[in-house]
Amino acid sequence: MEKLSARINSLAPSATIAMNQKGRELKEKGADVINLSVGEPDFITPDHIREAGKKAIDGNWHHYAPVAGYPDLLKAIVDKFKRENNLDYKPSQIMVSVGAKHSLANVMMCLIDKGEEVIVPAPYWVSYAEQVKIAEGVNVFIDTTVENDFKITPQQLEDAITPKTKAMLLCSPSNPTGSVYTREELKGLAEVIARHPQVYVITDEIYEHINFVGGHESIAQFEEIRDRVVIINGVSKAYAMTGWRIGYMAGPDWLVKACGKLQGQMTSGATSIAMRAALEALNGDQSCVSEMRDAFLRRRDLILGHIAKIDGVKCATPGGAFYVFPDFSAYIGKSVDGRKIENDMDLCIYLLEVGHIATVPGSAFGAEGCVRISYANSDENLEKAMQRLKDALAALS
Ligand SMILES: Cc1ncc(COP(=O)(O)O)c(C=O)c1O
Repeated sequence: MEKLSARINSLAPSATIAMNQKGRELKEKGADVINLSVGEPDFITPDHIREAGKKAIDGNWHHYAPVAGYPDLLKAIVDKFKRENNLDYKPSQIMVSVGAKHSLANVMMCLIDKGEEVIVPAPYWVSYAEQVKIAEGVNVFIDTTVENDFKITPQQLEDAITPKTKAMLLCSPSNPTGSVYTREELKGLAEVIARHPQVYVITDEIYEHINFVGGHESIAQFEEIRDRVVIINGVSKAYAMTGWRIGYMAGPDWLVKACGKLQGQMTSGATSIAMRAALEALNGDQSCVSEMRDAFLRRRDLILGHIAKIDGVKCATPGGAFYVFPDFSAYIGKSVDGRKIENDMDLCIYLLEVGHIATVPGSAFGAEGCVRISYANSDENLEKAMQRLKDALAALS
């Protein structure tokens, strides 16, 4: 008899993985499925970073590494924050983990107690809500819409804070919407946080470098709340290194120390070889970062051009990441050949089965009626996929 813990039973399976799986099954049956459901760059890791990984193998970096990461990698991260964000951290305020997701999980487990509330702006990256649940916290969602570019306002934040609020999550550039908060918008949120000294900010900046609106802005820049901000970042998206599994956190000493205690018992830290490659990613030639960003921008515009021509679809112009998040509510309730589209999940299944394009329903991210389309794919595939999308939607009435 199965005897799973209540903790694991309370978790939702990942909709992204489910759509990926369905797409793969159709592909195995011979269908030419274009996968727009993935959350990773389609590029391969740049040569100089791969070389650093190979050198680490041949250079005998085979033993247990320090739990928080090699000192030279911690220094490279300190230097990155100074160089790119004008933020001052000490190495003791940095910890490297097995991907940004792991950094986030460490912070949740060390910061959130049972019953404490965590404010999560919706639409949200699926793992936020599930990690809050693992930490036995309570998700408090703030809804946003396409009309306000999926961003929360200071008033919405103020209204959501209660005496039980322990933290708020922020993701800019955002997965799934691609929205990017401006400095002024972040300042407005920081002013609210400053009035509530029990509230911490966990800011996920993993898409920092896939930004089409100029420089990246971090909420950590505001001095009055700086000691209550934890930054989550990593090399996965900027350097096309998703499989290497290197992420990091930067925050107050006491929290980083606690995360080190947890990590020391759970994983003993990240992989030695991957850390040596990440060191090269951060210290080496950065031109790969802007080259990939430029390719994503071109693809974003390609996709937006097609979506603008589809009747009834509302779509914000994402300022970053590699997703568009159109609102397809106008198509919910329509039918074709006796098949009724009841919700966004039905729509995504229809698009997959009939149009052979895999996407992710917005409801998985807390936004009914929307669909997340990843444009981390070739221009040629995107052109083909957009034509299929238009044809499939046009068939509905
Ligand atoms: C918003 C966001 N944060 C964190 C991550 C996880 O990054 P990593 O692969 O470094 O764990 C992802 C990956 O999809 C993401 O979209």
